[in-house]
Formats: sequence, C-alpha cells, structure tokens
Amino acid sequence: MIYSADDRCPLDDGNSIPGIGLGTFSSDKLVKGDVVEAVKAGIEIGYRHLDGALMYGNEDEVGEAIRAKIADGTVKREDIFYTSKLWMTYLSPNMVRKALEKTLKSLQLDYVDLYLMHWPMALKPSEEEIFPRDANGKLLLDDVDFCETWAAMECCKEVGLVRSIGVSNFNHRQLEMVLKMPNLKYKPVCNQVECHPYLNQSKLLKFCKSKNIVLVGYSPLGTPRNPKYLNTSIPPLLNDPVLKKLGEKHHKTAAQVVLRYQVQRGVVVVPKSFNPGRMKQNREIFDFQLTDEEMEMIDGINRNCRYISIEMLQDHPKYPFHDEY
Ligand code: A2P
Repeated sequence: MIYSADDRCPLDDGNSIPGIGLGTFSSDKLVKGDVVEAVKAGIEIGYRHLDGALMYGNEDEVGEAIRAKIADGTVKREDIFYTSKLWMTYLSPNMVRKALEKTLKSLQLDYVDLYLMHWPMALKPSEEEIFPRDANGKLLLDDVDFCETWAAMECCKEVGLVRSIGVSNFNHRQLEMVLKMPNLKYKPVCNQVECHPYLNQSKLLKFCKSKNIVLVGYSPLGTPRNPKYLNTSIPPLLNDPVLKKLGEKHHKTAAQVVLRYQVQRGVVVVPKSFNPGRMKQNREIFDFQLTDEEMEMIDGINRNCRYISIEMLQDHPKYPFHDEY
C-alpha cells in the first residue's frame, strides 16, 4: 500500500522507490523542448520519480529538465529517482556498460537510480538502430542469455553508475531464472510490466510480492492508444462503465480510480502525462479510498488484454507473453 503522493516503497537492496512516477515516453509528435518543459512542470507539481529509457530517445531532454530544477533549487539530485532501461540491442554483456554510459551522457548525470533490462529478448547488437533489420526488412534477433546480461548489470551497480537494478517485461519463469543464478549478487528489485484493470497481473503481482520484488505498472491509464504501438481492438480503458461509475461515486475521474486501485494493491505506477492539469490530477488520489467490494469490482473487469504485445517479436525464443504470467 502506498499512502501518499510522496510515499516510497522499500526495495530489496535497501533503496526505495517513490510510489508514483511520471512516464516520459511519448509517441506524439513533439517539438524539441516539449519534454524538457513537461518534465520541469512534473517536478514543480511534485513528481520525484521519472521513468525513462534509452529507447524513448529523449533522455537528453529529461536530463536537461532535471538539471534545470536542481540548478534553480527546487530539488537536489538525491530527491530525484530516475529510471532508465537497457535496450534490446545492448543485451550482450560487453554492451551493457556502453548503453548505460550513453544514457548518462544524454542525461548529463553521474548515475541513474534504477536501471532495468527493458525486455528479456535480445536483438542484434546495434548502437544506431532501435530495431535492426536485414535487407529484406526482417528483424535481426539475437540469442543472448539474459542471466549474463544481468551479471553485467550487477557490475554497473558495483561501480556506482546505478543505485538499483531490475527488469521489465519478464514473465515469472524468466524472473525465476534470474533468481536462481548460481552467482547472483543482487536480486532484481522490480519488474516493470504493463498493468491496469484490463490486465491486472494478479498472478504476477502475487509472485513478485512473494519474492520481495516490486511490481511497477506501466501504461496504467491504458496508453495514449497510438495504433503504431498497440492493439486498438481493446477498448479504451478510461471509458469503462465500472470505472466511470466508481469515479462519479467518489467525485474522481476514471484515471484517478485506476491509479488508486493500483496504489491500494501495492503496485507502483508511472502514468504518462505532459499536461500539467492531468499530471496534478494523477497525484490527487490519496483523499479517497476504494472499499474491498469496489476493489473486487475492478478486479472483475480484468480481461488479460495487453495493449502493448509487441507482436512483431512473438517468434523470438524469449518472447515473454506466451506464458500465462
Ligand atoms: P496527456 O499526456 O495529454 O495527458 P499511460 O500512462 O497509460 O501510457 O497513458 C497515457 C495517456 O493518458 C496519454 O495519452 C495521456 O495524455 C493520457 N492521460 C494522462 N493522464 C490522464 C488523465 N488523468 N485523464 C485522461 N487521460 C490522461
């Protein structure tokens, strides 16, 4: 349970993560500087946890915003919790530190608070292309043992380039493989996965809790619904009648109801908004409570539907979503 907008959840390695973060991925057409302004506004509103990734292509802007808010005295570096992610083309152990250093150079920061393996699947090493393809346009997959990638991430923690390490988009079997590594030095502190009432991840959440792994939920509001990235056959989450009705009852929006649902069940959320009004709204979820019955009603609209199923990689041997959870 997360009790306030500034509350932090303990992590297995002794660090802690703020329960509400600001997602920084945008598939909208933006002009240079939009992300800087959005992140600065987010920090002014009170966000201390910023969720980014090398793949988002905007870490330079996120870093610029963080540094500006440090320079003007709003925050200190240690107040900010910045998450970055190791992209699929850098999973070879000898590429890991290179990717992290690229992120740090873009951010112009000395360390990130949390570094996640973005996916368990590797693509052919590339520093230029996000999705490397052959001359026929076929994606170039790679076969890297993610446990070896994990060991390289542990080294990054040991030299102080990252404070905590975790994974993203791992199923429970893949998580077990990391947990059972014979020379494991650090457990993944979290698994960041898509999580919202249409994909409530109740089994994965239970599994993660049993291992003291925090589940961080991405796309908690059902994504911006960009057809380039998602399965648009799933209806918009925030139009769901159960969520709307509960919102009316509590004088809250459907977005606030879904975020409240997550913090009550111990899921850290990273809603994305670049709109100051909505950024503010997404933190105003601690002045009401959902009853056990209301939590069950929301559990009842689960459909196990993924907006982000990254189907173009479903033949990858390490595709995580063939397993039930
Ligand atoms: P915007 O950035 O214009 O606010 P997710 O976090 O699930 O990826 O969802 C992000 C999408 O939800 C974005 O399109 C974002 O738009 C929108 N959004 C963010 N906060 C709210 C809110 N409180 N109500 C409705 N839509 C929201």
